[in-house]
Amino acid sequence: MSQQKKILVTGGTGYIGSHTCVELLQAGYEVIIIDNLSNSDAGIADRIAEITGKKPILYKADMTDKQEIGEIIASEKNIFSSIHFAAYKAVGESVEKPLMYYANNLNSLINLLDLSLEYGIKNLVFSSSCTVYGQPESLPVTEQTPVVRPESPYGNTKRISEEIMEDFYAAHEDFKGIALRYFNPIGAHPSGLLGELPSGVPNNLIPFVTQTAAGLRDEIKIFGNDYNTPDGTCIRDYINVVDLAKAHVAAIDRLAQNKTKKAFEVFNLGTGRGISVLEIVKGFEEATGVKLKYTMAPRRAGDVEQIYANSSFAENELNWKAEKTLKETLASAWNWEKKIRDIQ
Ligand code: UFG
Repeated sequence: MSQQKKILVTGGTGYIGSHTCVELLQAGYEVIIIDNLSNSDAGIADRIAEITGKKPILYKADMTDKQEIGEIIASEKNIFSSIHFAAYKAVGESVEKPLMYYANNLNSLINLLDLSLEYGIKNLVFSSSCTVYGQPESLPVTEQTPVVRPESPYGNTKRISEEIMEDFYAAHEDFKGIALRYFNPIGAHPSGLLGELPSGVPNNLIPFVTQTAAGLRDEIKIFGNDYNTPDGTCIRDYINVVDLAKAHVAAIDRLAQNKTKKAFEVFNLGTGRGISVLEIVKGFEEATGVKLKYTMAPRRAGDVEQIYANSSFAENELNWKAEKTLKETLASAWNWEKKIRDIQ
């Protein structure tokens, strides 16, 4: 694709952001990261460079500080598109501190859109989530499945962000936006240099599984085994983070090739396969040979029973498909955990 286009990646040292920077650099794009490093560190940029042989430019700045972000964008000139990852993402914390989530996640996006107008950054790819579908009435979920009010303030910031974009692109038709609705991103880079680094006790299933395998946690609690699913545990669509990162490059390519059909487009990004919590636990054991201790526990508040994607719109329009197997993805998550814990 069109080489040397400059892409601004907010939150580019985070979990999905860092993997996306790697794929962008490998595809020939130039990467400028803005990150406040609140949930990551500057060393991630070195790891991206180690993998790709190309160093992204990293600015430590907060997307809510419009003046500072404006100065960075002014100094960088000719940015083709931004990819906006920078956001708070802990569901439980958002219930405790809703204003913090609304202020951070929404002001960051509004600042970016306003600065995009001011400096002529015509394109934006936004990190959204399948949380906007709640518990859908029918599965798999297409982009036409109705959006509902998400359970958590975090989820609601994603829905409101999409609405802000919808209005923005209706008013500014020479600007283009793509929202990518992620299902459950898991796994790590095959190099073992990038992966998910949750602070404190993990909320998400895979980091909890890998930390249990590493001996940091005693046992996994499976939240609910009385759901209306084949084995009684919740079903999700787990997508490999490298596959997910590649979808961002496909979205940028689409913008660069002028292939968008509307000023604002939305894509589901999943594998199309629903996997239960118990299947993840068993699948991890099979993929790694490590036995896991687990118990059944009560349902977790706010969990949907089951959700998985129909990703055919992304397949047809972005020419993208999730390729990695669940087995290799779970093995990559374990490889990453072993590396960071120094386990042989
Ligand atoms: N689970 C357990 N035990 C754990 C952790 C999770 O049984 O210790 C279960 C959950 O109950 C759920 C499944 O594993 O059934 C997946 O849970 P995660 O927390 O990993 O993921 P969620 O599907 O709850 O969350 C994801 C994203 C959020 C997003 C949400 C929308 O991580 O960003 O989907 O539903 F908001």
